[in-house]
Amino acid sequence: MSVDTKKPTVSTSSNWWKWFDFRARKAGGWAFILNRIAGLALVLYLSMHLVVLGRLTQGEQAWHDFLAFTENPIIKIGEFLVIAAGIFHGLNGIRIGLATFGNSAAQQKAIFYVVLVLSILGSAVFAYRLFI
Ligand code: HEM
Repeated sequence: MSVDTKKPTVSTSSNWWKWFDFRARKAGGWAFILNRIAGLALVLYLSMHLVVLGRLTQGEQAWHDFLAFTENPIIKIGEFLVIAAGIFHGLNGIRIGLATFGNSAAQQKAIFYVVLVLSILGSAVFAYRLFI
């Protein structure tokens, strides 16, 4: 059977909805999605963090009020998600760097699983210190 070399390997038709079709997604696809979600979450957190730091200009009482507000469990869950996203995104970034500039492309799937395990362990340690 001959291979049609003119046919594009990536479809250019409007198939954006395939992003949400998880059936054919492999480890590399999941790694990419998780990395993007974590990266965007960190951008969102950084924006909120800068806004919150603006409270420092409103005096000591405003800052203490804000610190009291952070005892809220929803904020604590948010803190946990930021740390989990940071750990995963940082470790996965190293994996991407190694695969891009090093010679670990063939092992990238195995390294992704190591990144996942380390991220879960690191997040669990943080969760223990935060919630227990
Ligand atoms: C430990 C530090 C970090 C490392 C090693 C790292 C590494 C990387 C790498 C290698 C990529 C490219 C991913 C790809 O080519 O598929 C990336 C993407 C990105 N990073 Fe980071 N990053 C770090 C910290 C951050 C922080 C602190 C933020 C946000 C404040 C951030 C936000 C993003 C975003 C939004 C993307 C684009 C994701 C995408 O287009 O899929 N990163 N990062």
